[in-house]
Amino acid sequence: GGGTLAAVLAGREESGDLLSSRARLPRPFTTALPVPAVARPVSRAGGVDRYEIVQRAADVEILPGLRTQVWGYDGQFPGPTIVGRSGRGTLVTVRNELPVPTSTHLHGGVTPPGSDGYPTDIVVPDGWRQDTHGRSSGSGHGGHGGHGGHGGMKMSADAWTVSEQAKEYDYPLDQQAATLWYHDHRMDFSAPQVWRGLAGFFLVRDDEEQNLPLPEGDRDIPLMICDRAFEEDGSFRYPSLDPSLKGRPGVEEPYMGGVMGDVTLVNGAPWPELEVDAVRYRFRVLNASNARRYRLKLEPGGPLTQVGSDSGLLAGPADLQAVTLAPAERAEIVIDFSRWKPGTAVTLVNTLGKGGMRDVIRFRVARRARDSSHVPARLADIRPLARTDVAATRWFDFRLTSAGGGAKVWTINGYPFSVDRYLASPRLGSVERWRLTSDVHHPVHLHLAHFQVEARNGRPPAAHERGWKDTVDVRPYETVDVLARFHGYRGRYMFHCHNLEHEDMAMMANFRVV
Ligand code: C2O
Ligand code: CU
Repeated sequence: GGGTLAAVLAGREESGDLLSSRARLPRPFTTALPVPAVARPVSRAGGVDRYEIVQRAADVEILPGLRTQVWGYDGQFPGPTIVGRSGRGTLVTVRNELPVPTSTHLHGGVTPPGSDGYPTDIVVPDGWRQDTHGRSSGSGHGGHGGHGGHGGMKMSADAWTVSEQAKEYDYPLDQQAATLWYHDHRMDFSAPQVWRGLAGFFLVRDDEEQNLPLPEGDRDIPLMICDRAFEEDGSFRYPSLDPSLKGRPGVEEPYMGGVMGDVTLVNGAPWPELEVDAVRYRFRVLNASNARRYRLKLEPGGPLTQVGSDSGLLAGPADLQAVTLAPAERAEIVIDFSRWKPGTAVTLVNTLGKGGMRDVIRFRVARRARDSSHVPARLADIRPLARTDVAATRWFDFRLTSAGGGAKVWTINGYPFSVDRYLASPRLGSVERWRLTSDVHHPVHLHLAHFQVEARNGRPPAAHERGWKDTVDVRPYETVDVLARFHGYRGRYMFHCHNLEHEDMAMMANFRVV
């Protein structure tokens, strides 16, 4: 797991024990990078793009010669990339043919509450009976691997909104161009269900972005980075916890830091290689890991030019030696491969990863080619939020707390998640300062609201953190002030730690836009 409790609290979760894998692993850089297929709408009538996606199990080859069963959108991992247009409605019908309930969240989406993928707003497969624990009715599938920090608590039947077999999600996309993603958000089971493959890209495009001379077409490539572990037969390995052991000391403790694997996947392929022309490329990098953080760097060196963050382009490019991504964060980076001679291998490494987890992806510079792209000094119009915009300041502390009987739980302001507790009620259209503090690394994500980082420990953020974001890495004992805009819709939304095991272990809370 991601280290013992003691190691996590000592800030050493990075070096925690990995899930050991007995599967035969490929040598790095021997698999070609796959690029997820772009989803085709079933209709574009009436100014709306309609998609139909089926969640199903499928056997795919991730490790050479072995079959891995994934739970994927359209049976694919990553799921198909949906390309939406700012201001144009997109309706996605998700049909659930998996053996478990699901809830689909568009991460970074400005989405009406009924389509936001609330954890108890679930789509159940044919024949599923939902009890008030949200657990399986004896099918034997439901309990697979959930950490269920909350699941042991009985929830009243009306806490659940249950759609039979399918649900239509409404994404109006009243938001600027950005690299979003969609993933599972089922109560208590987000971590194991995303681990099994329920994640995909959702790109929002707009005119401002498409008129920029950034690399485009097949030189604009999404990279979903995540770690996984495998059993000897090729199946995903995830700590499967027997619910009857819940609450016994030591059972969950090894995973307090979250679950980390020992294989790095990019777009679902282990340590892949991509042949590139000696020109500029735009990469939309997403950390889709449950718990692992990355500090990405090029070897043998050279700048990564960051042009976008979670929820949109930056005001201007930032030349960086390294890009750090906590779970769910995105960075759009441009790499100019013309600085290397054809034949050069350029490796993206994770300097936080030990051993084999240092390698991520290798680019093989193949040939010179024409390139009309460049990175302009001005990218997007971003109005910096100021202290004079702030209607309220709220404080949220992300911390391991002893709840009653001495068991440690991940909490926000001392509260584990409850469907009917609200920790904030911001007004529609207002800007609030949320002051986030933590004991260990917690990547904090707000649904609906995009925010700007105002300060880290009182200091202004670096250039690459000045754009619009929806997830911010709060580091051990740090105070991060974000200025969040609660725009779009009234209703119930949530914020939570995006370490998915922390999330499943109840580090979530509601806010209500009023
Ligand atoms: Cu990407 Cu509430 O999550
Ligand atoms: Cu956390």
